[in-house]
Amino acid sequence: MAMARGRRRGTAALALLALAASAALTLLPACLAGVTSPYVRPPPRATLSLIHDDDDDADGQTPLQVRVALPLTVSVLLLKIPFLRPLFRLEPDQVHISMVGPDKMRVTWITSDDAPATVEYGTTSGQYPFSSTGNTTTYSFVLYKSGNIHDAVIGPLQPSTTYYYRCSSNPSREFSFRTPPATLPFKFVIVGDLGQTEWTDSTLKHIAAADYDVLLLPGDLSYADLVQPRWDSFGRLVEPLASARPWMVTQGNHEVEKLPVLEPTPFKAYNARWRMPYDAGATPSGDSLYYSFEIAGGAVHVLMLGSYTDFAAGSAQREWLRRDLEAIDRRSTAFVVALVHAPWYSSNEAHRGEGDAMREAMEEALYGARVDAVFAGHVHAYERFARVYGGKEDPCAPVYVTVGDGGNKEGLAGEYIDPQPAVSALREASFGHGRLEVVNATHALWAWQRNDDDLPVVADQVWIASLAANPACNRNKK
Ligand SMILES: [Fe+2]
Repeated sequence: MAMARGRRRGTAALALLALAASAALTLLPACLAGVTSPYVRPPPRATLSLIHDDDDDADGQTPLQVRVALPLTVSVLLLKIPFLRPLFRLEPDQVHISMVGPDKMRVTWITSDDAPATVEYGTTSGQYPFSSTGNTTTYSFVLYKSGNIHDAVIGPLQPSTTYYYRCSSNPSREFSFRTPPATLPFKFVIVGDLGQTEWTDSTLKHIAAADYDVLLLPGDLSYADLVQPRWDSFGRLVEPLASARPWMVTQGNHEVEKLPVLEPTPFKAYNARWRMPYDAGATPSGDSLYYSFEIAGGAVHVLMLGSYTDFAAGSAQREWLRRDLEAIDRRSTAFVVALVHAPWYSSNEAHRGEGDAMREAMEEALYGARVDAVFAGHVHAYERFARVYGGKEDPCAPVYVTVGDGGNKEGLAGEYIDPQPAVSALREASFGHGRLEVVNATHALWAWQRNDDDLPVVADQVWIASLAANPACNRNKK
């Protein structure tokens, strides 16, 4: 009994210590030396195979081109031959959803054959009293021809509600998603540089076990790297999650995919497959490579910035950012977060300086708007900084976090500059993902989950206070 009481007291003391440490990280980051994690990482894991065994097709719903690894180009051609058509299963494929304004959702999916761009939906499984028809597009890339890429916007939808839906009126696959809440609290998952390796699979399993509302991806999705069927396999890999929660993405360098002479247009596959709401919201950008959106009734404003399109002074992106930030009312918008691909602050040896030009072009604007946090990818590791502006700690500046640790084929970036800069609070080269819970109008809890072998382990956790609620930082901006 006495031992149990002692253990309880010990546990309580440890909990208090952890809480105090967490509070210290929030309030007094300058007083703490930066930490370079000593965690010993497990070895790299293989890229997932594009070819699925027939045994994997237990539900009989995997399209034929997956089972025998036919590129969609070949599938599309074979489908022109009438007597071969019955050999193909033509279910909607690679389904994912994204938010459009406060109460609508875009559903995107691919079919091998001609099919209507229609989504039927309702709040009861098997019953679809509502429907919406959108658009269909295709793209070609050297010899590759995509399937039919459909998208349709559905709504208005009720918040925090599960909807069931099917695509192209196909009865064989029913999907469902939960709409985000209209008020706080609100839960994000944030992870970049996903790729499609066994580590990606591990990360996705951990995300699937989380209770979250929206996933934010700061670039580098499929690592197709010009091999277009890899976009299809990536779409299938993420479909179980991306068809159930909105995935809001911005571009990374692996989305550019330009080939001299043959394919001079950048972002061809990315733009065709992952259409985001650049024409919606309070300040539409008109460009798919950067946009913003609001959640929880405007309590959180999310900036999805483009690291690989023009961001210099006078550019369209810079002008849109100015208009977008000016339109934010910090009396009602508790948090503003931004996503970029190449980090503006990093003490990793990988990709040194690649985010500097964008930081020089945009940092002042984000600082002036009291942006609360900036999340980046690109560097395949985790790092959290203090609130920084102009390279120095500043209590009214954003917290900077790098989460380029989704699990891609290029492996981890484990070399750091030494000594650790004073503004770098914690750095660790492991795969994982982040969770940002905006708890209320004044506080958000950031937690980074390391893929510790096959278990998600909270390896960093810190409270982030809203700058709008900080009188010392609030400029009484409207
Ligand atoms: Fe990258």
